[in-house]
Amino acid sequence: MKIETKVVHGGQHPDPVTGSLIPPLYQTSTFAFKDADHGARLFKGEEKGYIYTRFGNPTVNLLAEKMAHLEGGDYAEIFASGCGALFCTMLSIAKSGSNIISDKIIYGGSYGQFKQELPIVGIDTKFVDTTNPKELEAAIDKNTKLIFIETPANPTLKIVDIKKCAEIAHKHKIPLVVDNTFASPYLQRPIELGADAVIHSATKYLGGHGDLIAGVSVVKKEFAESLRKRSRNIGANISPFNAWLILRGLKTLAVRMDRHCENALKVAEFLESHPMIEKVYYPFLKSHTGYEIARKQMNNGGGVIGFEVKGGREAGKMLMNSVKLCILAVSLGDPDTLIQHPASMTHSAYSEEECIKVGLTPGFVRLSVGIENIEDIIDDLKQAMNKIKA
Ligand SMILES: Cc1ncc(COP(=O)(O)O)c(C=O)c1O
Repeated sequence: MKIETKVVHGGQHPDPVTGSLIPPLYQTSTFAFKDADHGARLFKGEEKGYIYTRFGNPTVNLLAEKMAHLEGGDYAEIFASGCGALFCTMLSIAKSGSNIISDKIIYGGSYGQFKQELPIVGIDTKFVDTTNPKELEAAIDKNTKLIFIETPANPTLKIVDIKKCAEIAHKHKIPLVVDNTFASPYLQRPIELGADAVIHSATKYLGGHGDLIAGVSVVKKEFAESLRKRSRNIGANISPFNAWLILRGLKTLAVRMDRHCENALKVAEFLESHPMIEKVYYPFLKSHTGYEIARKQMNNGGGVIGFEVKGGREAGKMLMNSVKLCILAVSLGDPDTLIQHPASMTHSAYSEEECIKVGLTPGFVRLSVGIENIEDIIDDLKQAMNKIKA
């Protein structure tokens, strides 16, 4: 099956009991046992069956199977948020007294988690430029348990070569974990390129409608049992209803992503040709430093663009305050075009100096291009830019 078919059919069958084409929503916290011995056997793992939704739920499990199938992994767990997925994945591979290596530009919430939460459980993070093989290798020591990258990265759209990073990780017998939120499995499948685990904020393109918060972790079999345990014990689980909404959203992933990508490329080209724009960051623009690698590992450029307006932060602020169709809000991957200022919003875990070091300039604006009519999006940006000029 091709990916367009997999997102519709993958991991799903008509309900064996009723024939319902759309999977039933098992909105329950617990499951009744046939008798006391049956309950005991389920807890001991001597018999398969449902116990309690934190341990497993038919709607959530269906989504987990579908995500493992779409990403080409062996096992998946679904979480209440992308941050929950990230934390449980880190704890299922790294241990107290070890360290992980992360690229220095990642989602601000992930950066905050690595700097503030992982040290509490005894895990340190070394932040490096993972596009520099020498710098990456030099950071690996005997206590390094994994390499973490985001590609394209939030918000600078930095592209990291997944294959190359996986080669370096495996040379040192450690796994590579990739945050695939910006691309989705429709545009990029890191496990096929050598990664060992993939995480997602399913809040974004997987859910696709801006109506839920969720996370996904897909792993190879060697990490499955550890991830399953962390998920049960930590309890950052998704609600069955949100899992059901993601199953619904996934059916249209391919058509939505096609439209996001088509619109984003046109907006990126429009911005690049505009005299009031200093610089545009979009992986499928030839001017992007990661263009060649992006073309190799992604099927299309995605829906997110970064740009700097001439006049820096003040000009960017005026633009964000002047848009009418685009909505001034964080998050991405929604049907609506969303605009925001990472340095003061999503990436406020980075200090001003850290922002500069990772290429996040004060005037950098992030645009998550929606699926509206392209002329309406461009007209809105044009009218906002005319206001700055005036
Ligand atoms: C790349 C990336 N990873 C992870 C997250 C965290 O996801 P969530 O907000 O669902 O916890 C985000 C959120 O914006 C993100 O952009």
